[in-house]
Amino acid sequence: MNIQNKHTADATSVEEGLAIAEAQDKAYFTDQMATDTAMQNTLLTPRFYTTDFDELDAIDVSAVRAEWDDLIKQMESDPNKGHFRKNEDWDHVDWDTMDPQLKKELIDFLISSCTAEFSGCVLYKEMKRRGANKDITQLFQLMARDEARHAGFINDALREAGLRVNLGFLTQKKKYTYFRPKFIYYATYLSEKIGYARYITIFRHLEQHPEHRIHPIFKWFEEWCNDEFSHGEAFALLMRTDPKLTSGGNVWWIRFFLTAVYGVMYVRDHARPAFHEALGIDITEYDMEVFRKTSEMSKQIFPITLDIDNPRWQRAVERLRVAMFDMDTAKATGGLGGFFGRIGAGTRAGLAFATMYFTPVNKNTPPTSSRLVPAY
Ligand SMILES: [Fe+2]
Ligand SMILES: [Fe+2]
Repeated sequence: MNIQNKHTADATSVEEGLAIAEAQDKAYFTDQMATDTAMQNTLLTPRFYTTDFDELDAIDVSAVRAEWDDLIKQMESDPNKGHFRKNEDWDHVDWDTMDPQLKKELIDFLISSCTAEFSGCVLYKEMKRRGANKDITQLFQLMARDEARHAGFINDALREAGLRVNLGFLTQKKKYTYFRPKFIYYATYLSEKIGYARYITIFRHLEQHPEHRIHPIFKWFEEWCNDEFSHGEAFALLMRTDPKLTSGGNVWWIRFFLTAVYGVMYVRDHARPAFHEALGIDITEYDMEVFRKTSEMSKQIFPITLDIDNPRWQRAVERLRVAMFDMDTAKATGGLGGFFGRIGAGTRAGLAFATMYFTPVNKNTPPTSSRLVPAY
């Protein structure tokens, strides 16, 4: 079949998915604003990562073989092939009459989600390309396949608003952040699991309150989050191949990544008040619920969870939010006032982060088998 007539939803490999996306890039205009937004590299926007691929390739999964084979078999069965495309359930979105602030925040949400999906796609695809270890390349090929479909689907949604993130351009031009493999495990494991928790929480909420479904893409979130769930399971298994990764001094790193991932989500979500109000979601309640689910799941592998119910932690994350907001305002102000404003806000953000980090954690003994099934 001609590539122009194909859809990313049907792609069975990441290469095919990206070739379809590239053909679409050529066929449709590429909106500069969407690509510019996706190009931003701030502390809070989704980043692109690179790592030591040789070290990753050297992993031996024998210690978790049975669970590994089970997971790969399930991913290979590909239950979501063809799913991520518009069909008769796709309701019309009236972008023209939408409240401007809501429109801005919804578009921002779609662009940053598309970038995050694509960031996973690029990292996983690169691992698959560079590796020689069959277990590893097979897993990363399957995960990259899923992320290419997810990113392609969000681009379908953006195209209706007259926008499109140019994925080929991003691959070449966006800055890559180097992370050692173990940091990739912690960060990616958490972002897959928190992604699952976010999507399923929104999906369940909108099941109860369909009147708040401001965009049809949320109807696809259930199958979507199951993909992310499997990806998180894969990283849990990878970490279990080496007990050192989740013990000793590395627990401090786990604590750091938990704090950073929760903190960034809290700040980023609160920057979209109109979006969450339209969804009928109280941002703080929603974030706490997502943290609770993520912490519960992460007990499968991490020896600690953050004490998110501790009022000290909750006050600190709120101080972090205010400081980051002030930092943005100071940046926009510019000049000498803006400069000192930034230093002040930066110091407050650092102190708030340190308080979150040093709030005593809950200890946990992970089970001998890590495999979980989506339970929410
Ligand atoms: Fe994804
Ligand atoms: Fe994923």
